[in-house]
Amino acid sequence: MNIVILDTSQQIARLAAEQVIGVVQSCESPVLGMAAGATPLLLYAQLIHCYGKGQISFRSTSTFNLDEYVALPPDSTNSYRYYMQSNFFDHVDLQAKNSYLPDGRADDLQLAAKRYERTIASTGGIDLQILGIGTNGHIGFNEPGSSFASRTRVVALSDSTIDSNRHYFGESGAVPEKAITVGIGSILDSRGLLLIATGEHKAEAVRAALEGPVSPICPASAVQLHPKVTVLLDRAAASQLTHRDDYIKCQQTPPGLASATPR
Ligand code: PGA
Repeated sequence: MNIVILDTSQQIARLAAEQVIGVVQSCESPVLGMAAGATPLLLYAQLIHCYGKGQISFRSTSTFNLDEYVALPPDSTNSYRYYMQSNFFDHVDLQAKNSYLPDGRADDLQLAAKRYERTIASTGGIDLQILGIGTNGHIGFNEPGSSFASRTRVVALSDSTIDSNRHYFGESGAVPEKAITVGIGSILDSRGLLLIATGEHKAEAVRAALEGPVSPICPASAVQLHPKVTVLLDRAAASQLTHRDDYIKCQQTPPGLASATPR
């Protein structure tokens, strides 16, 4: 696991974008696993910037998002489809037919989840999965207690997740109680993982994920089982790590990208 601790969110976005671009350029038909939420916004902005400068094309890329809420109205600005269109897809040359999200409005949600899993497999699997982490340690919407063997499925959201996401839902605060999420087993099938966390509020979850026992109580601890993981953290998110200074000493950061120095 390459744990990289940087000073600013902008540095994290640049390094994350380099990783994504590296994968897109090295694969004939790249497949990216996408995440929604606040964390990857700067990464998507950086990728759009690089696309605008002609440094990257997503013409032959397919994307699969980790999750989608169940039963949001089609015009909801809180859907992850809306989030992805407005924050990334609409600004690059990704082909519409190649951007997939779980269908949270399907009549048969279980079937939709199974189909999603099959569609990922039919593209040859995910080359790089982008991950955020919830304050409760979730990845995707795999809440504490999720099996490491879990596949794409319908899940109930924890109270902690509903609370964390309430501010996106305006006055009503009516966060859906269910979602379809790619499973932890499915995430671990990806050929590479890129976990990003910023902010003090993520520090405890980051510590549990990277230094705690590998346990479904902290779903993100499953990344310890994967052979190819990059973790990008700012100082605040890294602040609870017992071995923080060792990670800083050993981190592999490309030249030109200043990394955090121990204080
Ligand atoms: P956030 O969510 O990026 O909005 O903090 C991350 C997550 O819940 O996975």
